[in-house]
Amino acid sequence: MFLTTSLHRAEAQRVTWNQHIAPLIHTNCTPCHREGDAAPFPLVTYEDVAKRAAFIKKVTQNRYMPPWKPDVHSPKFVNERKLTDEEIAMIAEWADNNMPKGKESEKKEEATLIEGTAYERKPDLVLKMNKAFHIKGDNMERFIVYKIPFELPDSAFVEGIEFTTNNHRVIHHVNYEIDAVPDLDIYNTDDYINLTEDSRFKYDQYIPFRKHMIYYGGWIPGTSYESYPENIGWVMPKRGVILLTLHYAPLGKDEENISGIQLFFTKKPVQRHVRAISLGSGGIGEKEIDPYFYIPAGAVKTFKVKVSTPEDQSLLFVWPHMHYVGKIFKAYGVTPEKDTIRLVSISNWDFKWQEVYWFPKLLKIPKGTIITIEGTYDNTADNPANPSSPPQLIYSNGDMKSTDEMLTLVMLYLPYQKGDETVSLKKERF
Ligand code: HEC
Repeated sequence: MFLTTSLHRAEAQRVTWNQHIAPLIHTNCTPCHREGDAAPFPLVTYEDVAKRAAFIKKVTQNRYMPPWKPDVHSPKFVNERKLTDEEIAMIAEWADNNMPKGKESEKKEEATLIEGTAYERKPDLVLKMNKAFHIKGDNMERFIVYKIPFELPDSAFVEGIEFTTNNHRVIHHVNYEIDAVPDLDIYNTDDYINLTEDSRFKYDQYIPFRKHMIYYGGWIPGTSYESYPENIGWVMPKRGVILLTLHYAPLGKDEENISGIQLFFTKKPVQRHVRAISLGSGGIGEKEIDPYFYIPAGAVKTFKVKVSTPEDQSLLFVWPHMHYVGKIFKAYGVTPEKDTIRLVSISNWDFKWQEVYWFPKLLKIPKGTIITIEGTYDNTADNPANPSSPPQLIYSNGDMKSTDEMLTLVMLYLPYQKGDETVSLKKERF
């Protein structure tokens, strides 16, 4: 009886590449598994996937892939990359049945990618490092701040922005800020500062550029372009600098890296300007982290920081950040009416899988809401992610080395307007 039913099902709904598997893989895996991106091999074509079917079955069943860290206490995010139980079973069935390709006519229509971008069109402006950075293959991680000066014919409304590089695999993550610099010399300073090896005072030469920060963003594996709903965005200034902080992974052989950003402009005036803020280490509330931010060797410690919201705001995304010994990250708001707004909760932090978490719709944070960020760190020898053996005293001195620690939440927001709760942040591809 059982046999007939399953045979019947196999015939009626045979799982094929064209009909079922390709769309799943392209949405959930390809953003990292493609040429030049973060993952070690591409998962794009039938051949790429079919030859690794058994491995893919395994990493999806044990939920190692796709990496997605928020737990059940998080709200739903619009860029969630997670397979359902049915989808995982479908992959297994396909792998067990010798990976049928299916008919051409079953192919699902998928967006075609434009070379060099994940956006729907070519960028209007690409700003890159003027010289390649030479990464020594000495298995050392490096933090480099690269200065990219720019002067444009005019300022421009931005509808999208994307990080670009000749090789994602050498980069662990990137932060960047765009600063308007109307009147200082933007050329006559070092092209870059090596935060890992140079004197820590060398960075001071960039500080005068940071008076008018216009935009703050970043890239981590799997991150695509950033774009905004109608009328929302920001204005690229005519003149200024991009300060691109690149965290290069430890490498066994020398590599050359050229990175930068790509901008997509719009003629339609941007009426509402997004703003990025950073809470916790390196940002607002840094001095109020409680208790004092240091983690003795062998200790497990939890720190909190609370920041009050000065006006009604609408959030677009939250981006939590800790380093290697981070274990639990939580962020939430408590409104003056004592309602809790869940922002993000990760009970099994992994430095490797960081993410910008976009809300499905603009999320209102009323004035007076206290935002709490809470981080737990395990600096014991039992933590396999501990970079030091034996464990060392860890403190945060603002150098951003990943053997130091951070407790940071970056948020992108707008001043609130009536009706924002209905503004969708969904886009076709992340
Ligand atoms: C956010 C980026 C990202 C996404 C999304 C992603 N991967 Fe990966 N994947 C990686 C990286 C980076 C590695 C290599 C590092 C590692 O294994 O920890 C990897 C490794 C793998 C491996 C090898 C694992 C091993 O033990 O060596 C397999 C198989 C794999 N991915 C399959 C998938 C499949 C299937 C999907 C989609 C269902 C997927 N990945 C989605 C980034 C990603």
